[in-house]
Amino acid sequence: MKMVLKDEAAQVAFGEVLGRALEWHGCVFLEGDLGAGKTTLSRGVLKAFGYTGAVKSPTYTLVEPYDFGAYQVHHFDLYRLADPEELEFIGARELLDGTALNLIEWPSRGEGWLPVADVIVTLSVIEEGRQAELEAFSKHGEATLIRLSRLWCNEEADS
Ligand SMILES: Nc1ncnc2c1ncn2[C@@H]1O[C@H](COP(=O)(O)OP(=O)(O)OP(=O)(O)O)[C@@H](O)[C@H]1O
Ligand SMILES: [Mg+2]
Repeated sequence: MKMVLKDEAAQVAFGEVLGRALEWHGCVFLEGDLGAGKTTLSRGVLKAFGYTGAVKSPTYTLVEPYDFGAYQVHHFDLYRLADPEELEFIGARELLDGTALNLIEWPSRGEGWLPVADVIVTLSVIEEGRQAELEAFSKHGEATLIRLSRLWCNEEADS
């Protein structure tokens, strides 16, 4: 599925709907160039959990964990990852193996080490804002996209 997100607010709103459609778990790869809106989308996903604080890119720490009690979100930014082995050292295996929702910016840096994504979101800069293209790679991902298209239609109708 493909959609146009006309401004930052739409990007956040879409992330929020994505978080709900994922039913609070799964693995999402966020593809797209520098400034494509991956962190902004992540901020929306975290908003779905009720989080409204600052979301900074964990560029140097590689991952920022968020604990919501019953749910966990792990926001990865692998831009500066030199060697996937580094992920082993920071205990990322354990984070990725659990039942959390994992958002991974720059997944290509961890290729061969990361699990298969449920959903891959590819963001690109367009004249009217950002384009988001979503693809499912698991049963959970497929179900997520079905829920997402329904939720997003309602969201757009309301705005
Ligand atoms: N749909 C949109 N329309 C217009 N501007 C947007 C949209 N989404 C995000 N932006 C803006 O794009 C800029 C970069 O966003 P963001 O930091 O989320 O990108 P990123 O993909 O995470 O970049 P990086 O690869 O550096 O981590 C921000 O200033 C943000 O406000
Ligand atoms: Mg970012």
